[in-house]
Amino acid sequence: MRAWPSLLVHPVLAVSLALLLGCSQRPRTAVPAESPTEPPTERSSDGLASVHPGINDRYFQPDAVQVWTDTLEAERREVIAARDEIVAALELTPGITVADIGAGTGAFLAALSGGVGASGRLLAVELVPEFAAHLRDRAAAEGLTNVQIVMASATDVGLEPDSVDLMFMCDVYHHIEYPKVYLPTLFRALRPGGQLVIVEFDRIPGKTSARMMKHVRQDQATLTAEVTAAGFVLDREIEQVPLDENYMLVFRK
Ligand SMILES: C[S@@+](CC[C@H](N)C(=O)[O-])C[C@H]1O[C@@H](n2cnc3c(N)ncnc32)[C@H](O)[C@@H]1O
Repeated sequence: MRAWPSLLVHPVLAVSLALLLGCSQRPRTAVPAESPTEPPTERSSDGLASVHPGINDRYFQPDAVQVWTDTLEAERREVIAARDEIVAALELTPGITVADIGAGTGAFLAALSGGVGASGRLLAVELVPEFAAHLRDRAAAEGLTNVQIVMASATDVGLEPDSVDLMFMCDVYHHIEYPKVYLPTLFRALRPGGQLVIVEFDRIPGKTSARMMKHVRQDQATLTAEVTAAGFVLDREIEQVPLDENYMLVFRK
């Protein structure tokens, strides 16, 4: 009868019991839906756990623009080496609205802006305020007058309903922390018949490096299942672009 109270006041046993009950876990805090300045960490949002906690923390650092320009725009990155072929495969036409989701340092800014022409719009969407400010400066410096900057949050792309003809995401998908709530915001923002084009890293055991197996959480089948669950229909895989570590998929609304 007296065993339980005495167990609970015994310090060692009390700690063990707390561990068993999970009291040692870091408390989870909700990420405000519209707080792009706050780095997403190991938190839940709208009751959902991040599928890859902390994956974007690397971008919320001093000197992120300099550090990541050097990395993201290096010719050794195959999507940079194949940038012209990737953009050509989008078959952009003047006057349309394209959203570069997760535009980063702007590696695709000039090519996409040129593709939609002066009568079109390029929406450069970013989660990280420093990247967004850099994209704004870069567009101005390069005279890309059709570029607008859009701030996303980790749970919402921040685009108006039915406002985009083509969405482009290059090596961004594995950085989406809350796909179950984020992907429906993409679906809403795409006009009916519009395209979502995703370039994403392969995740193939035995082929993909150990580092990338850890960094990229999902393989192509998982990505396709998640994107189609949000309402998109898989249209085709683009295979003419010379990519060895990435694949390129076109989905439609
Ligand atoms: C690997 S970088 C790719 C940047 C660019 N697309 C490129 O290929 O050079 C991933 C980018 O996705 C952005 N990102 C991560 N989560 C995002 C979200 N939920 N919405 C918009 N951008 C996001 C990051 O801030 C980062 O700039």
